[in-house]
Amino acid sequence: MSRIAYVNGRYLPMRAAKVHVEDRGYQFGDGVYEVCEVRGGRLIDERRHLDRLKRSLAELRIRLPMSPAALGIVLREVIAENRIGYGIVYLQVTRGVARRDHAFPTPEVHPSVVVTARALNSARNEALAAAGIAVVSVPDNRWGRVDIKTIGLLPNVLARQAAIERGARDAWFVDKDGTVTEGASSNAWIVTQAGTIVTRPADDAILRGITRTVVLEAIKTLGLAVEERAFTLEEAYAAREAFVTAASQIVLPVVRIDGRPIGDGKPGPVATALRREFHRHAETGRA
Ligand code: PDD
Repeated sequence: MSRIAYVNGRYLPMRAAKVHVEDRGYQFGDGVYEVCEVRGGRLIDERRHLDRLKRSLAELRIRLPMSPAALGIVLREVIAENRIGYGIVYLQVTRGVARRDHAFPTPEVHPSVVVTARALNSARNEALAAAGIAVVSVPDNRWGRVDIKTIGLLPNVLARQAAIERGARDAWFVDKDGTVTEGASSNAWIVTQAGTIVTRPADDAILRGITRTVVLEAIKTLGLAVEERAFTLEEAYAAREAFVTAASQIVLPVVRIDGRPIGDGKPGPVATALRREFHRHAETGRA
């Protein structure tokens, strides 16, 4: 079965799904995106993802291309057309097509909208979570507005590639004060030796992950100790547990940072419990 993508009003086979060479996303990275989990053919946390999309667009002064309800219909149609049971849906909005000029186009152009979906292998993801992942630290050399989910991801791309070349799966960005900001495509967490769960506050140094928000709710419901504060790489090395969160992988235990085992070098009970509990706290949409 050929994959189907939504491009500016049309549902097309992947090979015919094209955008204009002068799309500002292509030329300037002038756009934003969202990735949502799909489970049992249903969207997870659609409302929160579309709220964040609205915020990202507003921060960049890109018009909302259609109502959140209409975007939701497109997301569901792409999931259905591709018969995704378990996987992810990707939504991208750029400022649109215009002759190349750094300044915003005048008159304003219509934003471009692309939606794709991809099945993920659930057994493979569960095996990954059961084994835990290795991460490496890299300097955080990104711009000052990483709170906006823009498609300009070059530092994240280079960080992830550096991780793979060093035998790890993800990279953790570390700022000039030696504190961990977040993963290349995830939020970063540790559990201290005292058992407190720590993650960085959602200031402008990280993306406010939807998974992060839901995990914080799960933590509160479970009555676990949590602190939203910056933590250093040294603290992470000495932690009892570490893990990352993202829509594409929910909660993934981290068992090695820069080659050093975390805790006993196996996925810890807190990360494992939060992974198990996650969908009790997330919003599952209609099919
Ligand atoms: N990335 N931080 C960064 C830099 C991210 O790219 C992501 C998600 C997150 C976690 O956000 P959420 O929980 O809302 O997925 C944090 C997506 C999955 C991606 O780029 O594929």
